[in-house]
Amino acid sequence: MSQSHPMANAVPVPRHIAIIMDGNGRWAEAQGLPRVIGHRAGVKSVRNVVALCRERRVESLTLFAFSSENWRRPEPEVKLLMRLFTTVLRREVKQLKSNDVRLKIIGDISGFDEKLQARIRKAEADTAECQGLVLNVAANYGGRWDVVNAARKLAELAQQGEIQPEEIDEALLDRFTSLSDQPEVDLLIRTGGEERISNFLLWQCAYSELFFSGVLWPDFGEVALQEALEAFAKRQRRFGLTGAQVAPIE
Ligand code: IPE
Ligand code: IPE
Ligand code: MG
Repeated sequence: MSQSHPMANAVPVPRHIAIIMDGNGRWAEAQGLPRVIGHRAGVKSVRNVVALCRERRVESLTLFAFSSENWRRPEPEVKLLMRLFTTVLRREVKQLKSNDVRLKIIGDISGFDEKLQARIRKAEADTAECQGLVLNVAANYGGRWDVVNAARKLAELAQQGEIQPEEIDEALLDRFTSLSDQPEVDLLIRTGGEERISNFLLWQCAYSELFFSGVLWPDFGEVALQEALEAFAKRQRRFGLTGAQVAPIE
C-alpha cells in the first residue's frame, strides 16, 4: 500500500519559517533618508510578522538580523545596529511574553559586548516558559560557523573518548547545530529582491522551500507573507521521491 504524504490533502502551513530580512538600507535610501532609518522601520515589520506567525500557529520563526559578515559595514551603521538590538531586546520582551513567544538567539554571542550579552541572556530567561511560538533571532550568525561549531564540539567529545569517529552521522552532527530542537525549516523567505542565501542556515535548509520576495523588509507585512504562504502551499515537496510517490493517484 502506498502511503500518501501527510501534507498531501490538507493546505500545508509551514511549521518553521525562516526569513532573511533584507532591504532596509535601500528602503531608506529610496526616500533620501539615512540607512539607519530603514533599520528602525524594519523593527515594525518584525513585530508584525511575529504576530502573524503566532496567529497562524507557526511553531518556529527564525529571523536573520545580523550576519557574521555584517561587521564589515561602516562602523556607524554597525554601532547603530548594536544599539537598536539592545533597545529592542529591552523594550519588546514584555510583549513577547504576553503573546507567549519564546525568544532564542542563535549565533556567536561572544562577539557582542558584555551588556548586550547580558540582555540576551535575560530576554531568553524571561521568555523561557513561553509555549506559543519560538522566535529565533540569528545575530552574529553564519551558516558555516554553525557547522564548524558543531564539528568542534564533536571533536572535543571524540578527544575525551565520549564518542568514536565512526559514530558521527548526520543525526549526531545535527544535534550540535542551531535549531536542532525545532522542526525542520519548511520555508525560507528572502525579502528585498536578492536571490541568495548569504551564509544563513546552510545545514538546516537542505530541503526547505525557497521564496524570494521583491518587497523590501520595512514594507513586508500580511500581504507579502500571504503571497509566500500561498506559493508554499502549491509546492510539491518530493524529498528525492518521484511526484507519483508523493501524491499517488487515488
Ligand atoms: C538588512 O537590510 C538588515 C541587515 C543586514 C542588518 P540591509 O541593511 O542589508 O538593506 P540593503 O540590502 O542594503 O537594502
Ligand atoms: C543578509 O543580508 C544578512 C541579514 C539580512 C541580516 P545582507 O544584506 O548582509 O546580504 P548580502 O551582503 O547582500 O549578501
Ligand atoms: Mg542587504
